[in-house]
Amino acid sequence: MTAADAAATDVAAEHPGPRADVLVLFGVTGDLARKMILPALYRLVERGELTVPVIGVARTDWNTEKLREHVGHSVEAALDDVEPAALQRLQGLVHLVSGDYGDPLTFERLAYAVHRHAGQGAFAVHYLAVPPGLFGAVADGLATVGLHEFARLVVEKPFGRDLDSARALDALLRRHFADERIFRVDHYLGKEPVEDLLVLRFANTLLEPMWNRTWVERIDITMAEDFDVAERGSFYDSVGAVRDVVQNHLLQVLAYLTMDAPHSDAADDQHDAKNRLLRAVRPVDPADVVRGQYIGYRDAAGVAPRSTTETYVALTLHIDNWRWSGVPVHIRAGKALPRTVVDAVVVLRRPPQMLFTGTDGPPPPNRIRLRLQPDAGVTFHVLAKRPGGDDVATELPVSVDFRQVLGPVHAAYERVFEDALAGNPAHFARLDNLEQAWRIVGPILDVGTEPLPYAPGTWGPTEQLRS
Ligand code: BG6
Repeated sequence: MTAADAAATDVAAEHPGPRADVLVLFGVTGDLARKMILPALYRLVERGELTVPVIGVARTDWNTEKLREHVGHSVEAALDDVEPAALQRLQGLVHLVSGDYGDPLTFERLAYAVHRHAGQGAFAVHYLAVPPGLFGAVADGLATVGLHEFARLVVEKPFGRDLDSARALDALLRRHFADERIFRVDHYLGKEPVEDLLVLRFANTLLEPMWNRTWVERIDITMAEDFDVAERGSFYDSVGAVRDVVQNHLLQVLAYLTMDAPHSDAADDQHDAKNRLLRAVRPVDPADVVRGQYIGYRDAAGVAPRSTTETYVALTLHIDNWRWSGVPVHIRAGKALPRTVVDAVVVLRRPPQMLFTGTDGPPPPNRIRLRLQPDAGVTFHVLAKRPGGDDVATELPVSVDFRQVLGPVHAAYERVFEDALAGNPAHFARLDNLEQAWRIVGPILDVGTEPLPYAPGTWGPTEQLRS
């Protein structure tokens, strides 16, 4: 075997592949497609990475021409550097099949379109940007016309509403698709700064020796958003902050931040390392949780007038393993907060003796702020001598902004589609890890108690966490 053959075999072993000959996009006229997916597909076309037909499916009376116009408007509204030639290439790849997802005729028309535009025997990637309640119907519909056989199914979050429904959904999809042919999207896994947590931790030797209970006092993970639920009221009200961002995005961040090094960079080794970590996380104790709801939320369209859905949550997690035992992890997430920021702050223990306190009291402990959004980077808060006669320590930031130094990165949905088309599962959620995540948040789903009110533009209800 030549070196090139060996490399190709490695890639094949790592990626269940095959590469897509056609992309089928269910929900092509929806909000997610307009805001995220179509702009991402444009970037792929611009870079020459997407050349296969894109067959959009939607319940609409549009025709392909109208869809192509919509693609143009969506891309131009989302991006400010659109090249007309690249946009035309994307528009030229797009075709529409319209119809109800419960109607077998829709799938017959789809099968015809797939064969016509991509040929017999084409490998299809079916991307489901539709409400999760429709996943089963779409998978069944695909199977009735044989479009499940040589295909991969990509499903948007949320994957289930709890542990049981996630398993039930998996069983529904598994009737037609093998596990390695199901990719479960968590777009945080497509974010470069999130993936960079692993590189920062394991490409350096700087952090790892102190990344444990001996040196770390606590970890604070924050996902704050300065906008409210806007026109997503009806979706959000059935979900709430825990299901919307904690069970998926923030537990993925936690895993990257605290797991042991994977054996290799291969998808399954990464998923295995995450799984070992998640299995050690104790289910959340409802006593460790503060739930909030911003004032005015109940007036949003689609929200129940007496809704008890949380738009803010703060909770404490405990990891019962050798590395992290006794180190609390605080997670908070909320809408209508003062700023949009996602970061993780690792607070180190204080030195054994305080030598440089001055009259202001003891200096703060060292903190390492891993910034994920909006200005990806890292800040080390270190202590230095305050100028003057006395030996007094004062805190100052040593900071780097990755984008300023390294240049721009691809958006999360570009990565999601690149990998979905190529068959690389590394940046999708594996079922056992999703199940662990549901187990962890299980005790605080559907609590039904009245959340604490907070004014929009504040940092949430003032009640403090227990630990
Ligand atoms: C989505 C949630 O999954 O992630 C939204 O449904 C949230 O409520 C969004 O605003 C945040 O994503 P990003 O990429 O803007 O941090």
